[in-house]
Amino acid sequence: MSDSSAGPRIRIEDAGKHVGETVSIAGWLYNLRKSGKIVFPILRDGSGMMQCVGVKAELPEETFETLKHLTQESSLVLTGKIRAEERAMGGYEMDIQSVEVLQRVPESQPYPITPKEHGIDFLMDNRHLWLRSKRQHAILRVRHEVVRAVRDFFDDNGFTLVDCPIFTPASCEGTTTLFEVDYFEDEKVYLTQSGQLYNEATAMAFGKTYCFGPTFRAEKSKTRRHLTEFWMVEPEMAYATIEDVKQLAERFVCSVVARVLDKKREELKVLERDTAKLEACVPPFPRMSYDEAVRILQEKGSAIEWGSDFGGTDETILTESQDRPIMVDRFPTAIKAFYMQPDPARPEVALGVDVLAPEGYGEIIGGGERIHDLDLLMSRLREHHLPEEPFDWYMDLRRYGAVPHGGFGMGIERCVAWICGLEHVRETIAFPRMLYRTKP
Ligand code: 4AD
Ligand code: MG
Repeated sequence: MSDSSAGPRIRIEDAGKHVGETVSIAGWLYNLRKSGKIVFPILRDGSGMMQCVGVKAELPEETFETLKHLTQESSLVLTGKIRAEERAMGGYEMDIQSVEVLQRVPESQPYPITPKEHGIDFLMDNRHLWLRSKRQHAILRVRHEVVRAVRDFFDDNGFTLVDCPIFTPASCEGTTTLFEVDYFEDEKVYLTQSGQLYNEATAMAFGKTYCFGPTFRAEKSKTRRHLTEFWMVEPEMAYATIEDVKQLAERFVCSVVARVLDKKREELKVLERDTAKLEACVPPFPRMSYDEAVRILQEKGSAIEWGSDFGGTDETILTESQDRPIMVDRFPTAIKAFYMQPDPARPEVALGVDVLAPEGYGEIIGGGERIHDLDLLMSRLREHHLPEEPFDWYMDLRRYGAVPHGGFGMGIERCVAWICGLEHVRETIAFPRMLYRTKP
């Protein structure tokens, strides 16, 4: 139904380079305002949104009627002249000359997500469509920038990307959150909880490595911080202590935040994120021990006792008044994973560190120094009632050139939730997987 010649195809984000030119934009109808003899279709094309203007007196009647009866999320190509317009979203408008509709969404079955408020379950059921909305679009664009910043940081700092397997015969983070896979014949196999054990092998081969991929936790809890499938980036360094790990984590987090502030201002604006809070994310991060954290929590009314792990509420209390991430180290050895190096000066605490994001967001990074002594590691494995055979290869790393080493893991979704200022991690990944959510 093209009723005049189409111009060159452009994307909305490039409109500024085509002022005064007649161009075509292929997209979907986001919204339509009509006022008598003028229609204002708002077009979105994935790169941005643009208000377009159709004037009855200047268009063939059929074209104007087509525009006037467009329905939400119909697919269409608009052709017209680009004009700078200071007051318009994005700064440009199109004066429409012609329209080609590819599929008109029928009135009898309208697009289910309307500008009115919908409940979260409805939106999650329609996640495949919800992704088109302004807010979700902005969040996933920030996520993309975070992922790029993460890769660039490690690539630019001498780390080699070596990805780790997803099917694993051994547990890394304790047996209570393992997903068992019922397929392999001769051994028990699980979905990976973390690539760390393999990272320790690759760090001994490459010095500094990282892996970046999906990880899985059979979390029985339904919280705003937990997914069953999430993406984790994990660096690992040979010849490194907990101090090296902390410094790396600090530089890393700051570079990711700075990158989003630099490249994704528009998206943060859509999300109404107070960017001053993110600007504050600069070194040095306040450091405290687990002991101090417990003291602070008790003073603030938490029921936590020395020896137990922080609950979500504890992390919120610790970080809500902070203006930048904090680093908490030396957690009780008894509550931490088997591989954590006990502090030689005080073996009841381990050389592990968590980075907690401010404004109540809580843990985004967990890491630390690993045990490199064979006998100590063996005895820790037994204390944790873990089978020895699946860890045989891991023990080799302590038999052949063992060195102090360490690293950390950062959950991408938690980091994005904090940067975007979101209440829940479920909006930070395109298709979240949670205890009660495996569709769409
Ligand atoms: O603290 P965690 O369990 O540490 C590890 O897995 C280490 N092996 C990492 C390492 O040292 N290489 O998890 C690391 C991070 C957490 O700080 C959090 O950001 C994220 O992974 N995370 C989750 N994110 C979403 N949903 C969950 N269920 C998560 N569990 C952990
Ligand atoms: Mg942790």
